[in-house]
Parts: sequence; structure tokens; C-alpha cells
Amino acid sequence: MNDKLMLKALTREHVPRRPLWIMRQAGRCLPEYRAMRETHSFKALSGSPKLAADVSLLPLRRYPFDAAIVFADIMSPLPALGVQFDFAPGPVVADPIRSQAGVDALRDPDAECLAPEVIETVARVREIAPDDVAVLGFCGAPWTLAAYLVEGRGVKDFPTLRAFAAAEPGVLDGLLAKLSTAMADYLIAQANAGADAVQVFDSWAGLLSLADWERLIRPHLQRLLDTVGETGVPRILFVQNAPHLLDAYAKLPAEAISVDWRTDIAAAQRRWSDRAVQGNIDPAVLLGGEDATRRAAQDLLARVETRGHIVNLGHGLLPETPLASIGALVEAVHREVVP
Ligand code: CP3
Repeated sequence: MNDKLMLKALTREHVPRRPLWIMRQAGRCLPEYRAMRETHSFKALSGSPKLAADVSLLPLRRYPFDAAIVFADIMSPLPALGVQFDFAPGPVVADPIRSQAGVDALRDPDAECLAPEVIETVARVREIAPDDVAVLGFCGAPWTLAAYLVEGRGVKDFPTLRAFAAAEPGVLDGLLAKLSTAMADYLIAQANAGADAVQVFDSWAGLLSLADWERLIRPHLQRLLDTVGETGVPRILFVQNAPHLLDAYAKLPAEAISVDWRTDIAAAQRRWSDRAVQGNIDPAVLLGGEDATRRAAQDLLARVETRGHIVNLGHGLLPETPLASIGALVEAVHREVVP
């Protein structure tokens, strides 16, 4: 248990080498994943604990990553609330929520109804993965889930969501409350099934001003993280494209903050001395090839203090990423000599 580099980094202990994993490492750019997708839909893969566990572990067969993230989606637990959606390729919600009646229609599910197949996948991955590899559970942050539920799909800058937040703050509050309760139950179930740490993805964090974020969103995220924290499982909070909110995020109860590539992660690490940091190479750099990736990795390692740093990208791997670039990143991290 204690030999997991990820857990040491999350508690900011000394490590012989920085841990490395990559967001969205389990799908997309691996040829063996694409081969599986030819015969199975994403829903079929993530709905089968056996296949989903296989996919979760695919990247570890190629690369010595320090964590395996369970193969599922942020939308996976929402059918238990009565939400219907498809992927095309991003989530498309059948009946977007725009009113109190829409929020009232959401079920308050029992914890064991929230994506039981994902919980079983976590248990399987934990059973199969080597002891020194951390198994990561995850969920979408209430606001990022609400973005899809209200807007109906991923749309640039989510104008319908922002209009809804302005026109119906009380309805939004009820929606975020339901989502944060369900996501807390879901992460606790993942921790109980063997997840060594959990990550909350707030991909659309940055859409509102700091004042509106404090008023409408923060209380729900705080409650979610506090509730999950009672289990003792370390929490990673991923924030994307929200430079005006970052210092406020770093005050939330999470062991680590994962930042995108626009952020000066070294300066953030100095400011947030009681938090681990995760990130933050630009995923597009890997499209630039091995040399560009090696340079970016070496620059990151030189700037960021080893203690409390989890090496990752600033967002998910892009589907067209050359595998050689992933190899160059792994090599740069493994070559570093830590005093
Ligand atoms: O390493 C992994 O792939 C782990 C599993 C994982 C998926 N989605 C699988 C998936 C994780 C951690 C996610 C998180 C997720 N899903 C987020 C948060 C992180 C982020 O990227 O900002 C968000 C916003 C979503 C919503 C979502 N689901 C989108 C935008 C898409 C479109 C396609 C894509 O890959 O971005 C999906 C579908 C989805 N989720 C796929 C995968 C592998 C593609 C399905 C396919 O193979 O066609």
C-alpha cells in the first residue's frame, strides 16, 4: 500500500521518482482500444466490468504508469437518476433539464444503484493491477455534469447553462444539490470497492465569474469533497480553463489540484504549499512529436518541485497522439534523478 508513488505524492512525502499517469490514458489513442471499439460501443465496453477492467489496464501493458483510471464516463452514474443520454461522440442528453419540474423528476438513487458496473470494475482493476499501481476512481463535478444536463450537449461556452444560472439560480441550486449528493455516494462506493484515490473532473469550471462561482457552485463542491473526505480517500480536483478561480479551488478540501497547461504550475505549487499539484503538459505538445514532448517534460521537471508533484497532461490525451510521444514522456520522467 505504502509503496504507491501516487499516494506518497498526494500526501507530499519524499518519493524516489515522480508518479506519472495520463488523463484519458485508457481509451482513444491506443490501437488495441480502437480494435475493441470496432466490435463494441463505448456503452457496451464501459457497461461490462470484465471488458472495462481490461480497457482500464490496457495502457499499463504498454507503459509503466503509476495509476490506472477506471474506464467509464462522467455520465455513467446518471441513468440511476433517470437521465437518458447517448454519446455522439460527446454526451447528448435526451431531455435537457431547464425547469424545477425537470429537477424534481430526477430520482434520489440509493447509493448501490449508481453505476454498479463501474463499482465492480473498480474492484476488478484493484484485484488485477500490481500493488504499486494506484487505482483511480472518478466522477464529474456537479457543475460539469449540470453543463451537459442543462445544455443537452457540449456547446462552446455553454450559453444556455449560463442563461439558466442567471434566470433560475434556485432551480440550479436544487440540481447541483442532487448531483453532489449522488456523486459523493458514488465516489464513496468506488473507494469502498478499492479505489486508492478519486478524481473529480470539473472540465467546465471556468464559465462563471468568481463571485457567481462562490455563490452558486462552491458550496456544492465543498459538500461533495467534505463528504468523500470522511472516508480518508485522497481527492484530486481537476480544473480546466478557470484561471480566475484557481486560488479559490485550492482552498477546497482536496489533497491535489490538477491544473491545465495555461497555468504556471510551479508558481501554483509555491502558493499552495499544503496541496499536491498534478499536470500539466499541453496535450497538443505530444502531437508535435518525441523531441517536443521530451523538451516539455524536462522543462516541467526542472521547474516543479518533486515533492507533491504528479506528472500528467493539462487535459486528456488527444485521440491522434503518436505512441512514441507517450514513450518519450515516460522516459523523461523515469530518467530524472531525484536527490
Ligand atoms: O482514460 C480514459 O479514457 C478514462 C475514462 C474516461 C472517459 N471519459 C471515457 C470516454 C474519463 C475519465 C472520461 C471523463 C470525461 N468525459 C470528462 C472529463 C474529462 C475531460 O475530458 O474534460 C468529460 C467532460 C466527459 C464527457 C465526454 N464523454 C466527452 C466530451 C466525450 C466525447 C469524446 C471524447 O473522448 O472526448 C465522451 C465519450 C467518451 N468517454 C469516450 C471515452 C473513451 C469516447 C468514446 C468512444 O470511444 O467513442
